[in-house]
Amino acid sequence: MGDFDGKRVLLTGASTGIGAALALALGQEGARVMLFARREEQLRDVQRQVEESGGQALAHPGDVTDQQALDEAVAKMVAEWGGVDLGIANAGLGDATKLDKMHARVENLVALIDVNVNGAIRTIVAALPTLLAQGSGHIVGVASPAGVRGLPGTGTYSASKAALSRFLESLRAPCRARGIMVTTVHPGFVRTSMTDKNRFKMPFLIEPEAAAQHILRAIRGRRREYVFPWQISIMIRAIGALPNALFDNIMGRIRT
Ligand SMILES: NC(=O)c1ccc[n+]([C@@H]2O[C@H](COP(=O)([O-])OP(=O)(O)OC[C@H]3O[C@@H](n4cnc5c(N)ncnc54)[C@H](OP(=O)(O)O)[C@@H]3O)[C@@H](O)[C@H]2O)c1
Repeated sequence: MGDFDGKRVLLTGASTGIGAALALALGQEGARVMLFARREEQLRDVQRQVEESGGQALAHPGDVTDQQALDEAVAKMVAEWGGVDLGIANAGLGDATKLDKMHARVENLVALIDVNVNGAIRTIVAALPTLLAQGSGHIVGVASPAGVRGLPGTGTYSASKAALSRFLESLRAPCRARGIMVTTVHPGFVRTSMTDKNRFKMPFLIEPEAAAQHILRAIRGRRREYVFPWQISIMIRAIGALPNALFDNIMGRIRT
């Protein structure tokens, strides 16, 4: 067993992709994981896999836009396991919308913000009273390098991850003073159902299992911010430093 032996983890977006891989990796380290997502069948599948790998898991089907469902998941963790050590706000939606289609897709665009921003806030807030009462624990948010600049064609996604990053940053100092660590992870391209739709070549694409190991490393290392893989970390530092005119010029070559 590893560093996560016996740790009690609230994990949203646990039914597929990075979340499912994280659940399995945590299970292999002996963690107890509360799996939260909407699709019950997939969640039960992940639960079985976590249990087969030596961990423990509970499944709570629900939507991150539903505060009551998240509060119930945390209450179940407290009742079954006595508390929460780690809360991972991972659930998220992707989007690519051309300028001409934005009006027709406005409901999808605002729904994305509701899941990626408000859903993450609701997840963290659900765990927070327990973490504060314990005076210990760790909050992790899955943001994205796409939050560093506003990327053409995926503006709501960029905006959602920027908002999540700033929210987590604002929590960091007050949480630390109360014994709670806050980590923001920024995965590069990971092969999941979210990126399967991408038609362009994704540089430095990694598998969800590798992404899960990167995230565990960030948690173990008590990192504030963690961008992976390292090539993406260099890329986003360069993109972040571009003057606005040059950034617009380069992005102007992308057809949206
Ligand atoms: N893949 C990448 O390249 C990449 C890069 C950077 C960041 N990320 C971030 O990583 C996170 C996981 O994404 P992924 O790539 O693993 O994609 P994914 O396979 O599509 O997984 C998304 C997860 O979020 C859950 N989810 C979506 N809406 C939800 C809602 N309203 N309530 C509860 N759960 C919800 C989904 O479960 P249900 O549908 O069952 O609810 C699913 O488990 C996201 O926050 C994403 O933005 C991904």
